[in-house]
Amino acid sequence: MSPAGGAAALDVAITAKDHHRAGGPPLRALENLRLVLPMGAAGAVVGPSGCGKTTLLRLIAGLDRDFTGRITLPAHGRLGMAFQEPRLLPWRNIQDNVAIAAPEATSQEVAALLDELGLSEHATHFPGELSLGLARRAALARALAVKPDLLLLDEPLVSLDAALARELRDRIAALIDERRITTLIVTHDLGEAIALADKIFLLSPRPAHVLATLDVPAPRKLPRADAEALQAQALETLASARRSAQK
Ligand SMILES: Nc1ncnc2c1ncn2[C@@H]1O[C@H](COP(=O)(O)OP(=O)(O)OP(=O)(O)O)[C@@H](O)[C@H]1O
Ligand SMILES: [Mg+2]
Repeated sequence: MSPAGGAAALDVAITAKDHHRAGGPPLRALENLRLVLPMGAAGAVVGPSGCGKTTLLRLIAGLDRDFTGRITLPAHGRLGMAFQEPRLLPWRNIQDNVAIAAPEATSQEVAALLDELGLSEHATHFPGELSLGLARRAALARALAVKPDLLLLDEPLVSLDAALARELRDRIAALIDERRITTLIVTHDLGEAIALADKIFLLSPRPAHVLATLDVPAPRKLPRADAEALQAQALETLASARRSAQK
């Protein structure tokens, strides 16, 4: 069965998520947000800055349990997560950063992962010695090292220059195709979502909910003209949702 037609791996039905702030009313980040991602599929959550994307990922990762609703994770539920900031341990070199996150991984497995992500020559470098692009790759290696059932990537390409973003994007696309790990990528960039995902969840401004779900035909192989057409369709969906919200 194709990944997009498989059983649900991730089923998210959040009624409400509020952030409680000292000295102010609670801030509603998510409301009535529903998304379902089939086993082995890559989903992209696309939404404007500040709409609640990272909040959503933290709930799915179980880092924040203060919400109403329910989240069902894939069987076994082993998570790999790469945060918006790479969050490597500054006093450990790259191979140790990966090994510490995945104590069950053998040193050969860690070395193979670093090789796959083009990091072998940086294995003994410290995070402070790496560019942002390399640090992002290291964070990705760390997330993959745990052999996740669900991989969560928060803005994996943000703040990279165009060439580096494209290179890392292609690497992530290859990893998704090879490993078939159920993956949820958060991004504010529609083009990035179309290049990486099987399914795209378009979020509203805060409080975020899913405005529309788009299936990408020929994921990660879509010819440029078709990708542009899909992008135009997604933008029209967003514009029409905005128009009806203003009525
Ligand atoms: N711990 C927190 N306490 C209070 N408010 C928070 C907290 N975390 C996030 N927020 C607020 O919730 C809203 C959603 O934040 P979130 O970081 O989830 O958005 P985002 O879509 O990931 O944004 P970006 O595109 O900038 O990464 C924002 O208004 C943010 O200021
Ligand atoms: Mg964010």
